[in-house]
Amino acid sequence: MSAALTTDPTRQRARRLDRWPAIWLRDNCRCTDCRDPRNGQKLFGITDLPARPEIVGVTLADDERDGPVAIVEFAPPHRGSYPLSWLDAVESTPVDDGRTENGKALWAAGDLDGRLPSAGWQDHRDRPAERLRVLDAVRSLGFALLRDVPTRPGTVLDVAATFGFVRTTNYGDLFDVRVQAQPNNLAFTSSRITPHTDNPYRDPVPTIQLLHCLENAAVGGDSGLVDGFHAAALLRAEHPEAFAVLTRTPVPFRFADADTVLLAERPMIDVDPLGRIREVRFNNRSIQPMVLPAEELVAFYDAYRTFAELIDRPELRLDLRLEPGDCLVFDNVRLLHARTAYAESGARHLQGCYADLDALHSSAAVLRAAVTA
Ligand code: FE2
Repeated sequence: MSAALTTDPTRQRARRLDRWPAIWLRDNCRCTDCRDPRNGQKLFGITDLPARPEIVGVTLADDERDGPVAIVEFAPPHRGSYPLSWLDAVESTPVDDGRTENGKALWAAGDLDGRLPSAGWQDHRDRPAERLRVLDAVRSLGFALLRDVPTRPGTVLDVAATFGFVRTTNYGDLFDVRVQAQPNNLAFTSSRITPHTDNPYRDPVPTIQLLHCLENAAVGGDSGLVDGFHAAALLRAEHPEAFAVLTRTPVPFRFADADTVLLAERPMIDVDPLGRIREVRFNNRSIQPMVLPAEELVAFYDAYRTFAELIDRPELRLDLRLEPGDCLVFDNVRLLHARTAYAESGARHLQGCYADLDALHSSAAVLRAAVTA
């Protein structure tokens, strides 16, 4: 690295160091004493740093690899090093884990205007740019539809493997959605199923669900999707007190059969520390009796009903009929899914499995880097 620089624009960029307090700069030092150059991981803990470091000088240098670098002298003594390109990137691309409503396209059925985010199975499997488009749709809209997925049983696991890892549960690696003689869940009957998210009785809840249609010759059995983030945002706008009640009231969800007892207490609408909607859990079948003071129970039931009425607004619901070979991939902590009742005389068989959003986002990030390289 050579000292002495440099152009005015570079000095201007370096001046933006003022934006950061000394402790932030000290903690985020990029020098090789502070970070393992092989993996970028930090080599110290917060208590290894002085509580109130001071900046005693700033100079600029040129680095062969990183370009202009700000060199910060601290007291107690440490020489910090900050490539300006790194500082610019930190400021211009704030961290966003892609899990909150922030940056997502919330929708009612009419917003999609009949154009479902979809792709052919072979394109999705074989073309990285196409797969990235599918994964970005799941992140932004909460779902994507793959068509022409072979109707061989078990293929839903291959679909999950294109972007992540199957979450095995008490239902197995995959589950068959068809009429069973002794159903442990209403899903395995021909009854109408109202909009819901799956498995709210788990923590962590599976954040992705896949449903692959192998056969759908039944009369009825149509599918519906509702954007739960959109419904929650409408609730916040139209009934802020009801929204507040549903974000602060833990709801006990439970599932039990001979082999399994699952229980999780979580709010119906989960917000992050900034108040942004992050997860929705909505499943009338698995809510347990709640024990709260009477007036809080009444407020909860009012809020729950208001949210349910909003979810039931016809304009929010996207109706679609899954045909053999269709595989729906959707965000199970955002979208609610439903189906109409169907006649048991016609064959209807879906296979489903669970996976998770973290791996889907990871796959999209790796694909994006490769596609744009
Ligand atoms: Fe379900």
